[in-house]
Order: sequence, then C-alpha cells, then structure tokens
Amino acid sequence: MQRINGSLCATALILLMGGLGGADTLSAKERSASAGIPPEKVAAYLYAVIKADRTVYTTEIVNRLQEKGIVMASEHWEQENALMLPAQFLHHSSKLVAESGSGIRYRLISLWPIYRRNAPTSDLERSALESLSKNPDWPVTGIVASGHKQYFQAIYPDLAISQVCIGCHNSHRLSPKRDFKLNDVMGGIAITIPLE
Ligand code: HEC
Repeated sequence: MQRINGSLCATALILLMGGLGGADTLSAKERSASAGIPPEKVAAYLYAVIKADRTVYTTEIVNRLQEKGIVMASEHWEQENALMLPAQFLHHSSKLVAESGSGIRYRLISLWPIYRRNAPTSDLERSALESLSKNPDWPVTGIVASGHKQYFQAIYPDLAISQVCIGCHNSHRLSPKRDFKLNDVMGGIAITIPLE
C-alpha cells in the first residue's frame, strides 16, 4: 500500500509540474527516453505496423473486393476504376513517410523483382534476401552509410500471405519467377533508420 501511494504521489507531482509549466522538463525526459530505444526495436515496431497495414490492405480490401467481383487491383489504377496493388500501397505510404522528414525509409525488395528498381541495391540487401528465404524467422540487420550519415537497416521477410500475391506474380509478364507458393518468402521489406 505504501508503495502504491508513493508512486501515485510521484505521478501527481509530474502531472502538477506539467500543469505548472514544467512541460519542458517532461518533453526533455521523453526525448531522452526515445533516444534510448535501440534501432533494432524501432525497426521492429515499424515493421509490425507496416506488415499489419499490408496484410489488412491485401486480405480485407484487395482479396475481398476481387472475390466479390466488385473491383480489381491493377497496376494502372490511376487510369482505371481499380484498386492500387499492395506493393503500390506500400510504396505510396513510404513516400509520404519520406516526405515527413523523419529520415525513415522503407521499400519492398526481391531477388525475383517484377521491376529492376526493386532488386537489392547492396551486398547487405542481397545476402539478407538469400538468408531470409532459408530462415524467415529473424530479420537481417546492418549499418549502412550514405554520404556522411549512418543508417541502421533491417530487412524483414515479405511472405505470400494470400492467393492474390502468388496469382499475380506467377502470371505477370515481367516476373522472373512463376512458381511462388502460399507462404513463400517472395522478397523483403527493407527498413532504414537514421542513426544520430
Ligand atoms: C495484381 C498484381 C499483384 C498482386 C496482387 C501483388 N503483387 Fe507484388 N507486385 C506487383 C507489381 C506489378 C510489382 C511492382 C510494383 C512497382 O514497383 O511499381 C510488385 C512488387 C512486389 C515486390 C517487390 C519486388 C518486385 O517484384 O518488383 C514484392 C516483394 C511483392 N510485390 C510481393 C507481393 C506480395 C507478398 C503480395 C501479396 C501480399 C503481392 N506482391 C501482391 C504485382 C502484384
């Protein structure tokens, strides 16, 4: 009981400080707390959100509406009455994130890309994709440099979570691989975070 009271008092004090113009103290505290989160964890948090959005868009929007015959997904969705592809959804949202100035970047890559621009662009990305196709349980991570800046990069597996993934890639005229199966590692989600 003593302890609970103590922590309640401390909470009340912090709230009071906030109320009395101690907001600077609090935000300084928050800043140092966030600087303390290791980049591996930040990448894991980002991946959890990106993956959830990608899964919901693919299964609950694209798959569902296609199955009901309501609307199809098409690469040329802007010219047609169609949904954007799951890869385009990720690409468009990552562009907005890049424009926000946070320095965070993410993209889809693959050893069998429909477009060359989605091929790995470094040894780290290439070896990550090779090792993820054997063991998708852990991301592959490393430090990369661009100019004078250093970045933490984590590459997570991108799995064939739905029939629409493999149906489209196996039949796309530019796809170099045509025997993807459900749950295969089709590529990776490469997340890059600036290191201070
Ligand atoms: C209707 C067709 C279609 C569907 C459905 C689809 N893709 Fe793709 N995917 C594409 C196209 C086209 C690209 C290239 C997009 C670009 O770069 O503009 C692409 C890009 C990718 C890439 C990047 C490498 C590459 O091939 O260029 C990966 C990885 C990928 N898709 C995996 C998936 C997964 C996993 C799913 C299901 C969650 C999925 N795709 C669903 C057509 C599709």
